[in-house]
Amino acid sequence: MSEYKVVKTMFTKEQIAQRVAELGEKISQDYKGQKLIMVGILKGCFVFMSDLCRQVHDVDVRTFFMQASSYGASTASNGNVRIVQDLEIDISDENVLIVEDILDSGHTLSYIRKLLADRGAKSVKICTIFSKPARRKVNIDADYVGYEIPDEFVVGYGLDAAEQYRNLPYLGVVEEV
Ligand code: IMP
Ligand code: MG
Repeated sequence: MSEYKVVKTMFTKEQIAQRVAELGEKISQDYKGQKLIMVGILKGCFVFMSDLCRQVHDVDVRTFFMQASSYGASTASNGNVRIVQDLEIDISDENVLIVEDILDSGHTLSYIRKLLADRGAKSVKICTIFSKPARRKVNIDADYVGYEIPDEFVVGYGLDAAEQYRNLPYLGVVEEV
């Protein structure tokens, strides 16, 4: 079994908090006075979702979660996205904002975006705190991106390496040891 060690900090908790506040402000302006269904993609979203939803104001927000899984303990995604836990609400005619920890190959989000759009949502947008454009395998962009990052494996702020390090308050880079 692989072991991972944090070798450097990419973003501090203060930098992340600042960016999350900016994203929350933008989302608040874009959906002002409207109803918004925020759908967090578990497990990685749990820290970002809790911070982001508290930065959204003057919007009628409801929060839900789905769990998707495309691979186990390895660090490479493939196209086989599986819904482990689905939404418990009807999203037809709703504004949906998918909240994700990181956009990597894009397989997970393109699958989920299509799934939710096919259920008749009025709009489906994506907010991700981190994005690795160099790793994209499918053509997808998020509507709201916290930080674009280089192709390094990162942990913390909800992101894991084999379930470890989700609790770090900063974003760190790991190497396999
Ligand atoms: P995608 O389907 O390849 O875009 O993968 C998205 C999922 O892969 C994310 O929700 C993460 O769970 C995971 N992932 C991708 N890159 C990283 C990383 O650098 N650190 C931790 N998890 C990652
Ligand atoms: Mg993960």
